[in-house]
Amino acid sequence: MRDLAAAVDRLAAGSLVAFPTETVYGLGADALNASAVRRVFQVKGRPATNPLIVHVADTAMARQVTAEWPEEAEILARAFWPGPLTLVLPRRPDLPSEVTAGGDLVAVRCPDHPVTLELLRRFGRPLVGPSANRSGQVSPTTAAHVDFPPEEVLVLDGGPCRGGIESTVLALSPPRVLRPGLITPRQLAKVLGQEVQLASGPQAASPGQLERHYAPHTPALLLQEEDWPAVRSRPGRIALLACQPLEPPPDLFLPMPIDPEAYAERLYARLREADVAGVELIAVLAPVGEDELWTALRDRLSRATVRYERP
Ligand code: TXA
Ligand code: MG
Repeated sequence: MRDLAAAVDRLAAGSLVAFPTETVYGLGADALNASAVRRVFQVKGRPATNPLIVHVADTAMARQVTAEWPEEAEILARAFWPGPLTLVLPRRPDLPSEVTAGGDLVAVRCPDHPVTLELLRRFGRPLVGPSANRSGQVSPTTAAHVDFPPEEVLVLDGGPCRGGIESTVLALSPPRVLRPGLITPRQLAKVLGQEVQLASGPQAASPGQLERHYAPHTPALLLQEEDWPAVRSRPGRIALLACQPLEPPPDLFLPMPIDPEAYAERLYARLREADVAGVELIAVLAPVGEDELWTALRDRLSRATVRYERP
């Protein structure tokens, strides 16, 4: 494929290539080239304190950037790679320190997308890949949503992302989820044969979890069904993202699926749609589902919106 050859050339020259994954599009650069990695931080406007995920073709490539490969990592990689699970492990000292924001641990994952797996194999080196959006904004789930100047970033179009929200970030010994994602603590516990906690508290979570994140430009409110009439009566045009229609009707209704996997697949594209619809407010009905995936979705929604406070 011509695009892939061009992408490999760009990466080898230290430039950036946006690549498709099963979760969201990533902003790729050679993980072993410090100046290319610094360029990713610049282009995204990302704080240098927030480390990057390293994408690998397989466990052999993961071992090129990690200093240890414990049994737990092997078991998890066998069960979930390629797939939306990021493992946090001790890093190899020769990995540019920018990748880990100066820390001793590196986050690695093998993405489940044929285009990007082929890109990794052809390039033969690991790629850093934060979500391909400007820092703090909504992650892109289509190639068209990656909006960087073409001379700065080559975009490989692999179609819309199936997963729709970012990977689960897992620290080991003991296993704990730093960022909830498409793979749930229960799925991890089943494979590991031990309990997996959701890390809580500001120290425990991934650095990237501390900020307001995944947010549209338009003010966005997260509300309960009973709050809708009060929010609806505000002046200005309002878009509503909800799994069911509410009365009185909004200016723009953006229906969301009831199934959490379909909800995840749709969420970021819907937030972007609402953002360009010319409304003054985006209202999001807080989902009430119990499935574990809703925990990850509520995490993203709580960062993309401000919770509605009753007067
Ligand atoms: O699904 C995904 O993970 C996507 C696709 C492109 O692979 N990538 C992604 O990257 O979401 P990014 O940079 O937007 O988010 C990476 C998250 C951040 O919350 C960051 O703080 C955390 O992973 N992280 C990265 N390295 C870490 C480390 N060494 N220790 C703890 N957390 C880390
Ligand atoms: Mg991101």
